[in-house]
Amino acid sequence: MKTLEEVKNAYRPSIRPIEWLGDRLRILDQSRLPFETTFIDLRTVDEVAEAIRSMKVRGAPAIGITAAYGMAIALVEHETTSMEEALRVLKDAYRKLAATRPTAVNLFWALDRVMDVARSVSGSGEVGSLRGAVEAEARKIFEEELEAEISMGLHGISLIQRGDSIMTQCNAGGLATGTGLGTALAPIKLAKFMGMDVQVIIPETRPWLQGARLTAYEMAVEGIRSVLITDTAVGLVMYEGMVDMVMVGADRILLDGHVFNKIGTYKQAVIARELGIPFYVLAPTSTIDVKSAVQDVRIEERDPDEVRYVKGSGGRTLITLPDVAVYNPVFDVTPPKYVTAVITERGIAYQPLDRNIPRLLGR
Ligand code: MRU
Repeated sequence: MKTLEEVKNAYRPSIRPIEWLGDRLRILDQSRLPFETTFIDLRTVDEVAEAIRSMKVRGAPAIGITAAYGMAIALVEHETTSMEEALRVLKDAYRKLAATRPTAVNLFWALDRVMDVARSVSGSGEVGSLRGAVEAEARKIFEEELEAEISMGLHGISLIQRGDSIMTQCNAGGLATGTGLGTALAPIKLAKFMGMDVQVIIPETRPWLQGARLTAYEMAVEGIRSVLITDTAVGLVMYEGMVDMVMVGADRILLDGHVFNKIGTYKQAVIARELGIPFYVLAPTSTIDVKSAVQDVRIEERDPDEVRYVKGSGGRTLITLPDVAVYNPVFDVTPPKYVTAVITERGIAYQPLDRNIPRLLGR
């Protein structure tokens, strides 16, 4: 087993989904993967907001980092001469970026962090120093995220045996966090990095197919054995003994242990519990929402056409009646009793989660 410092010095992610170029943000367009590897440069707040909304960049930590850089872009886009004007520009950017997607708490957490820094600098410096401070905070959020992922990856590896078969959900890899490593996929990638062979079982994750399109791609890039299954095969695959544990990410974890994650996670957790399979949730502490109760969290509903059509290499194909009624919630909530443990950069919280998650946060 390697130490945090050893991994930090030696591990280099194979993909680079987000790159700050001083005046613009370059992102790998996840809506085109795995068929096309296209990078796009975001130069305005509106472009950043559109990229998040349309899921060109997606995954809780990645949208937080992107939004934080979006605040830096706001100050590049608008030449401001007074601190008052600059703060107005930032508030406007905050409002636009916060309105993009409702469920992942990292978005609001990152925007608040940048805004707090901006407010604290605004009393003392000039506009130029504000721009530097906002950019530095966005970079810090990115760097802290990668370090947190390495830490949670190392905590996660302690639960894995050589040869294990791990079921995941959606894409909780380096694409979803922007760092190239990931949350739920961090122990898996670090296991491979340390010469430990594991296998990943990937539900396709309808309707957006993050599993089929993104996790399968990430596993192929890393040379990690993986098997793609339909979402409807989850129960049988667990029942047949093909799964040693489930490792998923999260968009929001409440202090009492409720886990909001990609639609389908709840079903996996219930089946895992029924069959005695450990169900682990991996996320940085920035994904823990210390304020909300279950009923306060909005589960995003997306365009019905995401369900009526499937997207492949040849474009969109209609798979039902064009006007069929659709309900398309894209996240669900897993009650704490189904979660074996929550793994963060600060350690592992086992049951009872409502006591041990606050303890991890020092509360
Ligand atoms: O709709 P998405 O693709 O943004 O949803 C992503 C997920 O649900 C991930 O599991 C979650 O953000 C954790 S990512 C490290």
